[in-house]
Amino acid sequence: MRVAMRRAAHQLVDGPLVLNDPWAVKILEPLLAVDGLNYEQKRARHAVSKAFRSYMVGRSRYAEDELKLAYENGVRQYVVLGAGLDTFALRCGLDGLRIFEVDFPATQEWKRELMEEAGVAVPERLKFAAVDFEHQTLADGLERAGFDAEEPAFFSWLGVTMYLTVEGFRATLGFIGGRAKGSAVSLDFTLPKNLLGLVERVALDRLAKRVEQAGEPFTLFFSEAEMAEEFARVGFTRWEMLGAEAVNGRYFQNRTDGLKLVGGAARLATAWR
Ligand SMILES: C[S@@+](CC[C@H](N)C(=O)[O-])C[C@H]1O[C@@H](n2cnc3c(N)ncnc32)[C@H](O)[C@@H]1O
Repeated sequence: MRVAMRRAAHQLVDGPLVLNDPWAVKILEPLLAVDGLNYEQKRARHAVSKAFRSYMVGRSRYAEDELKLAYENGVRQYVVLGAGLDTFALRCGLDGLRIFEVDFPATQEWKRELMEEAGVAVPERLKFAAVDFEHQTLADGLERAGFDAEEPAFFSWLGVTMYLTVEGFRATLGFIGGRAKGSAVSLDFTLPKNLLGLVERVALDRLAKRVEQAGEPFTLFFSEAEMAEEFARVGFTRWEMLGAEAVNGRYFQNRTDGLKLVGGAARLATAWR
């Protein structure tokens, strides 16, 4: 919910938009009375708020740009792993693209309720696949939802890897790595503390404490070299990894509002089969 609130706040307080996502506001309508998009808006100019918001919109924009490149190369299946309140399926303009959202059964139920309350219909192109990455295989969940395992697919996996066990992470990455040539995944991951400077370490500790209090502690960290090994092990042939500076260079240049990624703990990556 907090991720979605930041995407929604971006629509309302920032300009120019890095992620043009009017549905982010619409899908939260049922929650506005009880929780704080207002709060998010009030704090919007606060440095910490800006840092989180830029990261949330930057990573979604990055994955969606990579998806579009995969689509231009013929990929017609998009799997959103740990989709949460992601709204890409509602604003997708890519003809013939089939979208599969994967998440905990309870999270999906909650999302569908929010959509219904907000009067947002589930588009034909979207299928829900309820899967717990720790206890169920992605293969089964996707097959039940009508995914074609013989055809290439693009996967996004944003804001999830840091919450998994290494076994759960590897099972899912292995499934993606085993897909047809042309498949790819965009994901984000968190560097281990020992690779961070003091200020970044303190910032990561504060964030870790907050997500732990929300019942979802960070459990998994990778250095870039370790993530490269994970990619190679399951059959990816090339990959890229972007830190804050590279993401800012792509998406946050020439702004007057100072919106940009700060801190060095996060990486965005794409790996291709
Ligand atoms: C921080 S949210 C990110 C949501 C979305 N990707 C976005 O960017 O808005 C993490 C999502 O991963 C899902 N998730 C975490 N662990 C999971 C697991 N073991 N199995 C399935 N989904 C999981 C959560 O339910 C949540 O929707």
